Amino acid sequence: ATQISQVVKDCSSITPPYAALLQKLDHVRKVLDRPLTLAEKILYSHIIDPEASLSGGGRIRGEAYLQLQPERVAMQDASAQMALLQFMSAGLAQTAVPSSIHCDHLIQAAEGAESDLKRSIVTNQEVFDFLESAARKYGIEFWRPGSGIIHQIVLENYAAPGMLMLGTDSHTPNAGGLGMFAIGVGGADAVDAMTGTPWELKAPNVIGIHLTGKLNGWATTKDLILYLAGKLTVRGGTGSILEYFGTGVEEQSCTGLATIANMGAEVGATTSTFPYSSNMHAYLQATGRSPVAAAADVAAAKGFLSADKGAEYDDVIEINLSELEPTVNGPFTPDLATPISQFGKFVQQQGWKDEFSAALIGSCTNSSYEDMTKVADLARQAKEAGLTTKVPFLCTPGSEQIRATIERDNVTSTLESVGAVVLANACGPCIGQWRRTDKKGKENAILTSFNRNFKSRNDGNSQTMNFLASPTIVTAMAFSGKLSFNPQTDSLNLPSGKPFKFAPPSGQDLPSAGFTQGDRTYYPEPSPKPEPEMEIVIKSDSQRLELLEPFSSHFGPSNSRGLELPSLKVLLRVRGKCTTDHISAAGPWLKYKGHLTNISENLLITAINDEGGEMNVAFDRDNNTTGTIPEIAKQFKAREQPWALIVDDNYGEGSAREHAALQPRFYGCAMILARSFARIHETNLKKQGVLPLWFVDKADYSKIGSGDVLETIGLADAFEGKPNASIKVKVTKLDGVTFEIPTRHTMSVDQLKWLRAGSALNHIRSTKI
Ligand code: F3S
Repeated sequence: ATQISQVVKDCSSITPPYAALLQKLDHVRKVLDRPLTLAEKILYSHIIDPEASLSGGGRIRGEAYLQLQPERVAMQDASAQMALLQFMSAGLAQTAVPSSIHCDHLIQAAEGAESDLKRSIVTNQEVFDFLESAARKYGIEFWRPGSGIIHQIVLENYAAPGMLMLGTDSHTPNAGGLGMFAIGVGGADAVDAMTGTPWELKAPNVIGIHLTGKLNGWATTKDLILYLAGKLTVRGGTGSILEYFGTGVEEQSCTGLATIANMGAEVGATTSTFPYSSNMHAYLQATGRSPVAAAADVAAAKGFLSADKGAEYDDVIEINLSELEPTVNGPFTPDLATPISQFGKFVQQQGWKDEFSAALIGSCTNSSYEDMTKVADLARQAKEAGLTTKVPFLCTPGSEQIRATIERDNVTSTLESVGAVVLANACGPCIGQWRRTDKKGKENAILTSFNRNFKSRNDGNSQTMNFLASPTIVTAMAFSGKLSFNPQTDSLNLPSGKPFKFAPPSGQDLPSAGFTQGDRTYYPEPSPKPEPEMEIVIKSDSQRLELLEPFSSHFGPSNSRGLELPSLKVLLRVRGKCTTDHISAAGPWLKYKGHLTNISENLLITAINDEGGEMNVAFDRDNNTTGTIPEIAKQFKAREQPWALIVDDNYGEGSAREHAALQPRFYGCAMILARSFARIHETNLKKQGVLPLWFVDKADYSKIGSGDVLETIGLADAFEGKPNASIKVKVTKLDGVTFEIPTRHTMSVDQLKWLRAGSALNHIRSTKI
């Protein structure tokens, strides 16, 4: 194995263009003439024409739409399929910015790394072949199955302070740990960057998180973000960047900051940012990117990589790290935070059994060298005392580099000696590729160091309660098997009858002997040249991949309402929480990510119909039939009846899964009327030509039901650019009663062009070819 510390990586394509960014920043300063937050510096220095975007004199944050130029794109294997299918339809010879594909989501977790990887490659061969052929054709770096999880690989190879990257995965902000401005988007946004089309973002607000004090004992950066999730809730970061500052930032390791940035997605934040630190410098050096570190040092000295003195935040949250205690979040939502000292009582109050069925560590959120050496310290303590884990204990390394380095440094053997099973370097249990049958329908709990815990996510069982905690808490609790165990205060009984208490874990943020790269056959050729003659591999009878047919415009000749949407039937009023997992479930459906017809069979199958309260039930009022939601949607499609959805608050929270927008559109959805939307999903709807409208009065939600007819009034004015054009919706109830309700929209001028063309892609194609 080669030690990365001795390898000089080619840093030409990964060093941010600091000189150009600083020049742009000067321009921004002249226009705004006020102290800037770090987030504003990075984001606004990527605006294509700062004058046009910023000089209107009005409020920027939360108001202005920015036309941005990202410098890189990263895609995971599940979302890359649709992104590439879309990119192909744009007809270009290569991507406009360096891009990478990471094969991680499709790898199962059943027996152990080697056999799981082999089996998953066979099962998904045609998808990997398609991705590799597209990567070669368009000059994209292809990280093979087994290379690791997208966010860990980006952190190790591509992230750089002050750079702007889009990733087709909601935990893309993980790269914020290294000062990168990394945003999770849908494939259609990635296509913008890959086609060189300006990428549009509504300027987010900036929430300052002021860190003081010092983490101590068992508390980690994971506990900081778990605590913050409890404070902000899953909606608290929506439309905002979380910008951390204060004395508490400097001492955190780069990978520890990455954990915080990763889970900013759980509060809906656009991304998270930290000022450049000596630990970021050290991590860049340790991962073979000294030239990037040197360039970042210079940019930081010129004031680019930290906030200006006096910069104002939209809100400031104070956190004293010295007061933080380990926290356990869940079940079923990442913002239900309970300090570990209260957790046993909480479990008892809920009447849950004081046990759990598995402990899982690793994933993109928590598989750093620091995390793994800390858990190995606990394993060593337990082993010396003669203990082994009481429940299955599974470990997912984030990358081949981490796997190889912890194996070399005897971390793996220490974990295995107490019962750990090391899984493939991939998402595995985090994305539902795990024990899909053994716990079916049985209530049980699991403890994980992952980031997300919606129902059914890990094993397809809606009765599995996933509690999120730091890897050290998960590991210590695995030796007890009880949810009520608090390793800070409680002891375990040894076979001798003596009590055993863990000492707080200690670890090392970077390996003394440097990182080792492991098996280099997983790695791509750096900066590959496009191979135009390469044929893209899609079998004609494929059930996994399907070429995309462009969506037709809603405003074609058959629409008698001109530039208003055609009359729409309401398919369903969705009750309560409806995440992208509810709209387009993962797990076994992942295999159809590249086949829109097949994956659409899962549309909203776990959504609750507010008329009756049942899951996956819809009514076709025209012929008095009841069916599953996909069945009724298909009936509407078959009779060319465009339709609408009525949805609750924060619709589409959770992930950047663009299928959650593509699938309704595929069946004929033209409009979604919501109490509120999650940002990424709202943009995805716009990209696919679905009009997202917000209720002005949230109580209007209950006034509309299935079978009602909706007609927009005022959309034509918006298309025609009339100032202050507002959109109303005329509702015709089943009994013929009509009324109008006011709505609001967030469509920019360009987004209205997408809607008019039928999709953003239709619009891009008409302008590029
Ligand atoms: Fe993969 Fe789970 Fe992270 S699905 S990218 S390990 S959030």
